[in-house]
Amino acid sequence: MAVEFDVGVVGSKYVGLATGACLARLGCRVTCLDRDAQLISDLQNGGMPIFEEGLQDLIFDGVREGRLRFSGMETLSEIVRYSDVVFIAVGTPQSVDGSADLSNVAAVARGIGQALAEGREEPLVVVNKSTVPVGVGDYVSDLIRQGAGDAEVDFRVVSNPEFLREGSAVQDTLHPDRIVLGAEEPDSIEFMRRLYRPIIERDFPEAVKLDYRDKVPVVTTDLASAEMIKYAANAFLATKISFINEISAICELTGADVTNVATGIGLDDRIGPRFLNAGIGWGGSCFPKDVNALRATAREHGYEPNLLDAAVTVNDHQREAVIQKLQHHLETLDGKRVALLGLAFKPGTDDLREAPSLYLAEGLHTQNVHVTAYDPTASTKATKLAPYIQIAATLYEALTDAHAAVVVTEWPEIVDLDLKKAATLMKEPRLIVDGRNALDPVMARKIGLLYEGFGRG
Ligand code: UDX
Repeated sequence: MAVEFDVGVVGSKYVGLATGACLARLGCRVTCLDRDAQLISDLQNGGMPIFEEGLQDLIFDGVREGRLRFSGMETLSEIVRYSDVVFIAVGTPQSVDGSADLSNVAAVARGIGQALAEGREEPLVVVNKSTVPVGVGDYVSDLIRQGAGDAEVDFRVVSNPEFLREGSAVQDTLHPDRIVLGAEEPDSIEFMRRLYRPIIERDFPEAVKLDYRDKVPVVTTDLASAEMIKYAANAFLATKISFINEISAICELTGADVTNVATGIGLDDRIGPRFLNAGIGWGGSCFPKDVNALRATAREHGYEPNLLDAAVTVNDHQREAVIQKLQHHLETLDGKRVALLGLAFKPGTDDLREAPSLYLAEGLHTQNVHVTAYDPTASTKATKLAPYIQIAATLYEALTDAHAAVVVTEWPEIVDLDLKKAATLMKEPRLIVDGRNALDPVMARKIGLLYEGFGRG
């Protein structure tokens, strides 16, 4: 059964679009706002600013059925007046000192306060989906009051952190592992349970009815804990990857194979098999920014976050290790041709934020390497950020005459690379540095490629 709330979503990128489109799918009337006029005009004209599976269809259906629309910030007061709930889903990029830059959240919160001051009968539920440091819930309340000036305004702030992954944003929003709701008043938690009822009860047409648990667990807590859950989850996953990367470095020195080690430890229920792929390390829009923000929060409070610092050090080392492996086998990098297979920070997205590919391309370019690359989605974005990368139209064009290739993103077509064809197209020493441990080393070597993975004996 559908829910029919009026919803405003401020911020129309990954999180905002996925939230808005999914709530529209569940029956809500949703308006997604953004201060970026070009983005809103593109969305109004049927364009999609990001590559995200299933999202465009969901948006298209929502718009066609009149449940989803896009608008500039000038409609914020109307949205605040008539909506049951307003989501804040704007970016919290990394500041120079590593902490989260809250200026976008602050501007929206003040805007909501101003709009509330213009009049509204019922209390407004303001849901913060942006990843903000612990304590920011109170800060959002203060800013809303600040924006309202002398007017008496009635609202509730809820922290509802987002756990969606790029590449599966729609799936993760409609079928979350858990929903976290942080608030100081029980009535706002109850409201959120009603809003998310179809997701919690898996009561919508395409819902996957899982055998082992019917309902999605809802964790209700205070604002500060909800905010910390988001940071702790991302920091734990990033640390887990850095852990296996450290093990992979030790494997490399001792002759063990980290892929077997990962299987062996991952079967322990307490460890679990996921996020144990060793390689080039973590990137993207969340892990680097959130781990750094948590480190900054710890330091602000006088605590040295040694484990988180180490996770970052290991991650930085992984990228360096690719260049070292290239240097080791090519003797000199000067004048060599290196193909980057994949550019996006992970498959299923065109996102290049904190992508290892850009770090590698830059490092190689400064050593006079001719960098060529292939990616099914991220090439256009990459040419803007690193114009010296020669973009190839196909995987095999990128490999042609390359002395070495680096597997950067494990897109299916890269994992299924025709190794024989690669060997015929490449130049001596036909080196493959497999940054994702995605290829078959035995097969690659048999075919005459010089194969180097991460920690593979
Ligand atoms: C992450 C979290 O998973 C998600 O819950 C949160 O909301 C946002 O941040 P995302 O950044 O989309 O999602 O990507 P994710 O799939 O988690 O991968 C993050 C990085 O870790 C990628 O660079 C990926 O290549 C790397 N990774 C992942 C590994 O190097 N090894 C692994 O085993 C898993």
